Amino acid sequence: MRLQLLSDLHLETEAFDPQPALQADALVLAGDIDSTWGGLDRFAHWPVPVLLVAGNHEFDGREWNDAWPALRARAAGVGIRLLEREVIELRGRDGRRIRLLATTRWADFDLFGADQRERAMRSAGYFMRLMQATRDGQPFDATAMRAEALQCRAWLANALAQPHDCAATVVVTHFGPSVASADPRFGLQPSTASFCNDDQALLTRADLWLHGHVHCCHDYTVARPGALPVRVVCNARGLLNKAEGGGFDPLRVVDV
Ligand SMILES: [Fe+2]
Ligand SMILES: [Fe+2]
Repeated sequence: MRLQLLSDLHLETEAFDPQPALQADALVLAGDIDSTWGGLDRFAHWPVPVLLVAGNHEFDGREWNDAWPALRARAAGVGIRLLEREVIELRGRDGRRIRLLATTRWADFDLFGADQRERAMRSAGYFMRLMQATRDGQPFDATAMRAEALQCRAWLANALAQPHDCAATVVVTHFGPSVASADPRFGLQPSTASFCNDDQALLTRADLWLHGHVHCCHDYTVARPGALPVRVVCNARGLLNKAEGGGFDPLRVVDV
């Protein structure tokens, strides 16, 4: 089973023309594709299923309650399937069936432990103000994001614990699952908790974890007892005028 992975294309400002990787069975879009949503049109008539996990920027300037159904409909209009707290099964050309668990996940700000949470949430204020999203008419702030993140985490923990007969389990989130996914340009600081969660306990229940949000690329493994290591991959393009996109491969395919 081969998954093409793209994230953080930021087509609201970036010039990028996505192309299908010839050998892929599906395309995973791990969020921040286009804050205007217009760039989703680039994936119309894609030769394999296109699966989208929303990024934070998909909500820029929007009301949460309206944005979810609108984004789902907008994506479906060009044949993209938006996934949020959903489990799907995919069958590859090799006949392998995998289960894919998808959620944006958001940030719960506990990356450095509960005693650092308040600092982490304060440091997120700037990003949240930039986002200018609302929920029930109120600013979608760090407190609202944490509440959402905890619901996503609970859903993911439960979904990962369900019995299944698939050959592998793939998790797709927008936010990073480990401090190891932090962007090395910035080191570890309170705002790192706006990008990554401490999902180590969940990570080791998956075979492959795909994510975006950090504007750098990753491909690393995490050991787990009695099983092959878990692989974590991020193929984020980011913003070229900030010299991001190093290591980004527009035709990146991940085997599972
Ligand atoms: Fe991004
Ligand atoms: Fe993001």
